[in-house]
Amino acid sequence: MSLLKVAVLGNPILRRTTPEMKKSELLRESVQRFIDDLIETMREYDGVGLAATQVHQLYRIAVIEVVANPRYPQAPSVPLTILVNPCLTPIGTERAKDWEGCLSVPEMRGVVSRWTKIHVEAMDRKGNPLSLDASGFFARAVQHETDHLDGIVYVDRMEDMSTLTYLRKYGRYWRDKQVPDEGSALG
Ligand code: NI
Repeated sequence: MSLLKVAVLGNPILRRTTPEMKKSELLRESVQRFIDDLIETMREYDGVGLAATQVHQLYRIAVIEVVANPRYPQAPSVPLTILVNPCLTPIGTERAKDWEGCLSVPEMRGVVSRWTKIHVEAMDRKGNPLSLDASGFFARAVQHETDHLDGIVYVDRMEDMSTLTYLRKYGRYWRDKQVPDEGSALG
């Protein structure tokens, strides 16, 4: 396995949309190896998720995992989830605001509103249909990563840019405060 280079904001790859993957393409040895590298890279940089476009590949693949993450100490754990061709539908109409960060927007945080509960249809890494419901932080991570596969970065989703914060200032001024208006999806 090898670590992949993470593209940062300004790199045009982050603005590309990814085409739907065919099962035959997904099962190629090179793509399976890429998925292993994507997982390893996410873990190395303490991401809670990583999308293929962030590592310069136009595959419609994202990975998510939360295991006692130092970048998100309050986040509940989420088992390793590999999403190929994820398709999201909100469950209900409830949305919540919370802080997000991104390995492609280093050292920053900002408040983003997301659906609280979603249904996800996707393929797993073997091309089998995957159907799951996600809520809270997991739902937020799925929406964030799926956005990457459509060329969207979290700052595009911010309704109020005044919350855009350097990480070192986030720790000093914001981390222990409630997000304005709504409770925290991190619980
Ligand atoms: Ni991101």
